[in-house]
Amino acid sequence: MSLDKRNSINNILEEKRIFHPSKKFAENSNISSQEELLNLKKRASDNPMQFWESFAKSELDWFKPFQTVLDSDNAPFFKWFKEGKLNITYNCLDRHIKRGIGGKTALIWEGEPGDSKKFTYEELLKEVCKAANALKTIGVKRGDLVCIYMPMIPEAMFAMLACARIGAPHSVVFGGFSSEALKDRLIDGNAKVVITADGGFRKDKVIELKRAVDTAIESGADKVVEKVVVVQRTKKNISMINGRDFWWHELLIDQKEECEPEIMNSEDRLFILYTSGSTGKPKGVVHTTGGYNLWSHLTFKWIFDLKDDDIYWCTADVGWITGHSYIVYGPLSNGATTVMFEGVPRPSNLGAFWEIVQKYKVSIFYTAPTAIRAFMKSGREIPDKYNLDSLRLLGTVGEPINPEAWMWYKEVIGNNKCPIVDTWWQTETGGVMISPLPGVVATKPGSATFPLPGIEVEIVDKNGDKVQENEGGYLIIKKPWPGMMRTIHGNSERYLESYWEYISFKGEKNVYFAGDGARIDEDGYIWIMGRVDDVISVSGHRLGTMEIESALVSHKSVAEAAVVGKKDDLKGEVIVAFISLEKDVNSSSELVEELKKHVVIEIGIIAKPEKIIISDALPKTRSGKIMRRILRSLAGGEKISGDISTLEDSSVLEKLKELS
Ligand code: WTA
Repeated sequence: MSLDKRNSINNILEEKRIFHPSKKFAENSNISSQEELLNLKKRASDNPMQFWESFAKSELDWFKPFQTVLDSDNAPFFKWFKEGKLNITYNCLDRHIKRGIGGKTALIWEGEPGDSKKFTYEELLKEVCKAANALKTIGVKRGDLVCIYMPMIPEAMFAMLACARIGAPHSVVFGGFSSEALKDRLIDGNAKVVITADGGFRKDKVIELKRAVDTAIESGADKVVEKVVVVQRTKKNISMINGRDFWWHELLIDQKEECEPEIMNSEDRLFILYTSGSTGKPKGVVHTTGGYNLWSHLTFKWIFDLKDDDIYWCTADVGWITGHSYIVYGPLSNGATTVMFEGVPRPSNLGAFWEIVQKYKVSIFYTAPTAIRAFMKSGREIPDKYNLDSLRLLGTVGEPINPEAWMWYKEVIGNNKCPIVDTWWQTETGGVMISPLPGVVATKPGSATFPLPGIEVEIVDKNGDKVQENEGGYLIIKKPWPGMMRTIHGNSERYLESYWEYISFKGEKNVYFAGDGARIDEDGYIWIMGRVDDVISVSGHRLGTMEIESALVSHKSVAEAAVVGKKDDLKGEVIVAFISLEKDVNSSSELVEELKKHVVIEIGIIAKPEKIIISDALPKTRSGKIMRRILRSLAGGEKISGDISTLEDSSVLEKLKELS
């Protein structure tokens, strides 16, 4: 790992502008004064256990109360609220009906071709119960892992909640992943059932999800998968296997609309979600019930300053953690109205986003910097055609936002009246960790500002020593928090190595390393500098270089591969691959295209390399390690700086310079 590549980014972020929330917003916000915020932070640092206990009790409904707030006996395998019993779907659905808001709209769904649906809390509970009962009839039991591989349709939400209702952890796999990637996740998680759809509409095309499931099962996942449930979305022809495959609508037709929630232990698994790391295959991040429920709930409430009549829209896909925490669990646990859209931003539908804001009077809008940059590129004429007056708060997530995009978002979309919450977090953290509270914290374009109450972060060097003001370093989290991941599915060693043992601390233990670099400025604002490991973020989608390299070398023509990220104005980063070919294979543009396709087949379209550079050899140290630092500079068209004396054969460099 190296901080070099990020320090250069650091230098250009000399942002001095500062924006205070408007008087009107501040006066009406749930946390509206510095005193209140300081008091929250003080409570959290003076007595963290009491702090978490009070929120766990006031914000969630428990079937049985907990006695222990945090059990650190086997740290960093922490346990939160361990004796407590609850069901997250009770907190997301039943309790709102009990307090009389069952008629409130829970979900507004807008389909890609323009169809739409709405569900009240009462209706949503019924759908979830029917689906839960249907899962039981095909043999799903508490503790069985269910994979959800779906387009962005209401049934994706129903399926997640139905699993949680009966205590079957879900493993949602983003619908853009290929059958190969799906297969790996099915096998690793030991998924007994897959819930999918005949297909999904995306970018004017039909994504053949069921066919991908069939391929995954045929190519090895038959070891684990017993049943497949298929939602009818596109009505395109698919093959159904008798006894294995069931239509969702047929299974649900006679199911009861009630299903008692399973009484879950606080530390029972709620879900696994796969994410990329710097080594090996994607890892199944494990989240459990009580802590995750509290953290997704509380962060949603704090950051989005929720009011009863808000219409909230997060544009993520439920296949990512943002969709889990901020389309499904966080909003529903708070009784909010959450919007779900089947489409993704693309040149031909950029107006669709603002049309949805206008149509449903969306008041809180949460999206990724990549989307904002795409909107920006296509010009303000598009959003200017729509009435966006309903918006009162804007958010960003997933990657650093450049100040220009931040300013554009504020001026063009927010009409200078909406605060922006730039939220930093990860699949592993379960919910947001660093973000402004919109009514109180003055924002600087490009800074995620401060940690939330209860969260303690620091920027340190490799030895764990705190770095100077404005100096780049590793972002660490110093205290456990309820929404933290519990382990990596089937690989507790990797959990320890990746997150808890990377930085050597003098005396301090149980410090979580996030994989990101950051700096803290003279006013205490945190500036995230991006990943410092071999993880690339393409349009905010996290990909491990090693995964892409493995995909490339699995092709018969490729001898060696090294993948790096290259800065991109629109997508944040794009993938550049340097490869050498097997003996007797000749380089050609057809081969380059074939290799790009091969990566798409192995992982999915999001991993398609922007550029593949074929060379006789890759730059290596004398001990045989590929010097990625050099490749990164080459890919970015930068001057090669730093020590190259360890390079085994410096002529390789000259040749590569010509090719890049
Ligand atoms: C990056 C997404 C800068 C970061 C929620 C992190 C961010 C990774 C921000 C996690 C932000 C997320 N500013 N960078 N506001 N939010 N990141 O697991 O590098 O898909 O480690 O979770 O995204 O990506 P993941």
